[in-house]
Amino acid sequence: MTGHPVPPPSHFTVPSIARVQDYLADGMDNYLVDRELGEILLTVAPWLPVSVRANRAHHQRVLDCFTRELGIDQVIDLGCGLPHDGNRTLPDAVRRIVYVDSDWGVEAHARMVLVERTGTASLLGDLADMPALLAAEPISRLDRGRPIGVLLHDVLPWVDDDTARTAVAALHDWLPPGSVLSLTHATDDVDRKGQMARLSEIYETGGITFRPRTREVIEAWLGSWTHLGHGGLVSTAAWQPPSCGAARPPVMHAPLDRSHAYAVLAMTGDRIT
Ligand SMILES: C[S@@+](CC[C@H](N)C(=O)[O-])C[C@H]1O[C@@H](n2cnc3c(N)ncnc32)[C@H](O)[C@@H]1O
Repeated sequence: MTGHPVPPPSHFTVPSIARVQDYLADGMDNYLVDRELGEILLTVAPWLPVSVRANRAHHQRVLDCFTRELGIDQVIDLGCGLPHDGNRTLPDAVRRIVYVDSDWGVEAHARMVLVERTGTASLLGDLADMPALLAAEPISRLDRGRPIGVLLHDVLPWVDDDTARTAVAALHDWLPPGSVLSLTHATDDVDRKGQMARLSEIYETGGITFRPRTREVIEAWLGSWTHLGHGGLVSTAAWQPPSCGAARPPVMHAPLDRSHAYAVLAMTGDRIT
């Protein structure tokens, strides 16, 4: 779990998922290879920027929920992606946050940009090796005597089934009781035009495997967790914090909700009400 002293040779020549997403969200941290792939993706799914922005807005709402509603002030952001600037505001109540990514450039960027914010740290780590990731500093220095919040936002579609399932299980076993996982995941459950399949084909031309998954698959990973809030997966744009108390929102509205992703909040241990 040590950082590369220099970028891997492919860093500037093959697209990176974090930089492609950055391009789709009008960011500045991307290269020509990322922009070229992004442009092809947009020909199939012009709604992609809306989807990326919905996911980012969700990130902020979940951090607010962790701190204000659930009293959680230490967070691990797994597959944190880009950017790490003013576009993402960290609530003051987050006392400790560890940004983790397997992309050399993302971790290096996080390390440089975040160094001035007290309580932040970064780690080059891979979900494919959860035991090593969870044992590495600075994660090993988190206080496991108190609940920890984990963000796993739009990361699992980029890893294989076995890695996704074992990562969620490893988190459940490692986290202290009362910890909360916030998971978002792209889905093709509502994909009448076959756009998600086309997106997967295009990503593959850039060497990136994109796996939208069904509600059933994602729910199966969460069998040992206690759902919070509306009690299950909802579309990311329709997600509400547990305190909202509203009726369960619609599961997925394709024309209204361009997130094309599910969101869920799940806790280790029994729910305390
Ligand atoms: C689509 S971005 C999502 C970024 C951010 N979580 C968000 O919601 O905007 C996916 C991120 O997951 C990272 N990632 C992909 N596979 C990973 C793995 N096996 N371990 C850790 N990070 C991974 C990528 O490098 C990328 O930064």
